[in-house]
Amino acid sequence: MNRLKNARETVLKASRAYYAHLGYYEERTRTQKATERELDFLEFAFRTHATRKVRDVLDVACGSGRHVLGLAHRGYKCTGQDYTHEQIQMAKTRAKREGVSMKLLQGDATKLKYESEFDAVLALLILFLLPDDDSVLTCLQQIHRALKPGGIVVCNVANPFYEGENWFSLKSIQLGHYFQEVRVPGMRYISIDRVQDFDPLKGVAWWQETHVIEVPDGVHIFQEHERLRLLTYWDMLRYLQATGFKEIKCYPDWKTKPPKKPKAEMLVFVSRKD
Ligand SMILES: C[S@@+](CC[C@H](N)C(=O)[O-])C[C@H]1O[C@@H](n2cnc3c(N)ncnc32)[C@H](O)[C@@H]1O
Repeated sequence: MNRLKNARETVLKASRAYYAHLGYYEERTRTQKATERELDFLEFAFRTHATRKVRDVLDVACGSGRHVLGLAHRGYKCTGQDYTHEQIQMAKTRAKREGVSMKLLQGDATKLKYESEFDAVLALLILFLLPDDDSVLTCLQQIHRALKPGGIVVCNVANPFYEGENWFSLKSIQLGHYFQEVRVPGMRYISIDRVQDFDPLKGVAWWQETHVIEVPDGVHIFQEHERLRLLTYWDMLRYLQATGFKEIKCYPDWKTKPPKKPKAEMLVFVSRKD
């Protein structure tokens, strides 16, 4: 149970090492089509939920920039930040290559200093990776402060009750392992994950992850840890309410017209600052 002590620095260091290694390859395994769908959803959310015109957008954990880059191409004024220096460098390289301009900074999602500056803030695939629940609340409070009145937050967490196997599902945690193989041209990516620790009281799991990446210049193997908080729909609803957000709406799996029985792999929340 050593790892569940939630030492903030341990989590941040593990997360940073993990994303520094993974960023480049992960970006190549993700399909552009999936990102385009998410961008369409974001624009839908801006139109439907914000009571002001959305122009200035902040992404608090932008990774290598897939959302801020996409939004910049669609005419938004974007600021992206991420705790991992290497991710920000990748985002900068991509922005330069694609000829779009935006602000890209290294920064912690729980140390946002903005006040009434943005029409929309994104916190995508980050809240369940933060070191503890106080950090989740702090992050949402600071996002609330960063928004102008009428602006919206779009945040998502992986659903622990997703019935399929994925590294974030309770099902995989109970199985104790998760295996994934992705092939894209010029690359084979294998991830072998093993549950190292799980606290069923607090809903926190630690994964030991081994990644094997075959690319033309050789095989890269690295191991990292990742802490996962199994945030549920209700946790998110309460946290958004507690931090002052209004009109909280959940869109499972980024679907604007919810299917009768969603897969609910991803819980996407949109809410407004009044
Ligand atoms: C799963 S990736 C998500 C990236 C992007 N938002 C997306 O949806 O593709 C998580 C990102 O959060 C970053 N991260 C982890 N802890 C952070 C923190 N405390 N503050 C800011 N970024 C953090 C990691 O470096 C990584 O780039």
